[in-house]
Amino acid sequence: MKLDKRVAIITGAGSGMGRAMAQEFSENGATVVAVDVRADPVRETVERLGDGRSVAETADVSVRADVERVVARTLELFGRVDILCNNAGVLDDYTPALDTSDELWNRTMAINITGPFLFSRAVLTPMLAQKKGVIINTASISSFVAGGGGAAYTSSKHALLGFTRQLAFDYGKQGIRVNAICPGAIHTGMTGHLLTPEGRNPHVDEAVANTPAGRWGRPEEIAHMALFLASDDADFIHGAAFTVDGGWVLP
Ligand SMILES: NC(=O)c1ccc[n+]([C@@H]2O[C@H](COP(=O)([O-])OP(=O)(O)OC[C@H]3O[C@@H](n4cnc5c(N)ncnc54)[C@H](O)[C@@H]3O)[C@@H](O)[C@H]2O)c1
Repeated sequence: MKLDKRVAIITGAGSGMGRAMAQEFSENGATVVAVDVRADPVRETVERLGDGRSVAETADVSVRADVERVVARTLELFGRVDILCNNAGVLDDYTPALDTSDELWNRTMAINITGPFLFSRAVLTPMLAQKKGVIINTASISSFVAGGGGAAYTSSKHALLGFTRQLAFDYGKQGIRVNAICPGAIHTGMTGHLLTPEGRNPHVDEAVANTPAGRWGRPEEIAHMALFLASDDADFIHGAAFTVDGGWVLP
């Protein structure tokens, strides 16, 4: 049990990769605090775990009061936070800059980069007191290349990779390991519409077809990487970005 007795906060746990991470972590002994802005899906995630330890919290990662409430509740219930997975995120429908409204820009940034900042800042105090902690950010191939999202999404995921590196630089010596997972096209709630006849995006179809894997990924394939990075097996890994993308960004 690689995560025995560890307490992990996972955001965006009501669907897709967050739900898969919750499953993988729970099966490996962790107690999961599953967080999502949607109450019913995140409750369902915890019901499915059925581990008798994990809990669901409804919270918006972009709202400081929500974030601080979740961390305080985690400490109250379990006395520690060992792992934070900043995984909640939203896509911007591949909107180019000219068509991006202030609202779309601000919402994408608030959830995809301000959220990870707020949650990381909130867990740093208990993690530094423990002299050990792991933060895993779900970034994207959009942290490296254009076309995996629109102007706001790609900017937010580039920012998230920069934030990952700076956190690793600032806190590594104090026992905090911070890394990013950069998924390619993964079939989840966020992307399901892209696999329907009406929702297809020719650029994405072509990019996936041209990858060495030649297929969409599964949420579990991201969760396996999250388990590795959360575990002591990754003890020497700081500030790294792992593409799990079927080879999308292969040079
Ligand atoms: N699916 C892909 O192809 C892909 C590729 C690269 C990166 N990503 C990233 O992976 C992460 C997970 O996405 P997914 O594909 O599993 O999507 P998903 O839509 O299936 O799950 C995302 C979850 O985040 C929750 N969420 C949204 N806004 C929130 C908020 N403000 N506060 C709390 N929770 C919120 C949603 O309710 C949802 O349950 C995201 O950060 C996304 O940008 C996805």
